[in-house]
Amino acid sequence: MAGQIQLEQVINGLNLDLSWEYAAMVQYIQHASMLTGPEYVAVISELQEHAREEHNHAVILSDLIQYLGGVPTVEVATRLTSLNNVEMLRQDLQAEYDAIRRYLQRIEQLEALHLYDSAQKIRNIAATEQEHAIDLEKALGIQKVRPGTAYPFTLSP
Ligand SMILES: [Fe+2]
Ligand SMILES: [Fe+2]
Repeated sequence: MAGQIQLEQVINGLNLDLSWEYAAMVQYIQHASMLTGPEYVAVISELQEHAREEHNHAVILSDLIQYLGGVPTVEVATRLTSLNNVEMLRQDLQAEYDAIRRYLQRIEQLEALHLYDSAQKIRNIAATEQEHAIDLEKALGIQKVRPGTAYPFTLSP
């Protein structure tokens, strides 16, 4: 029974992840349209690519939830926007940090159930989120040469 409860917990977690993937897709499409200025031309293309990848993640998660015996959510989590270029990119980066943190937890949960194949799918998604975070850190000019400090997962104000 403990395994069944753990499985339900991970399915609930994956549904939360799915609602955030839908939100990320919507947010990136909107931010790509709203970013403006010559220095953001390349970033706009990046964000459009991110939106397509978040869509792919949503499809993978939806199929995985169904495979594990759950019902994929149609809920969309909170979307953020701004009229300020930098603020939009910071919103996107914080969302990526949050996604990575959730996916690392999900990998642990799935592996605890010996669902290594499902965990591998989440690992692949997490690796793409890391690429998204790197893209955004570079676009924001964030310098991370801080030896000895833990990976923050939270943007300082
Ligand atoms: Fe994603
Ligand atoms: Fe992402």
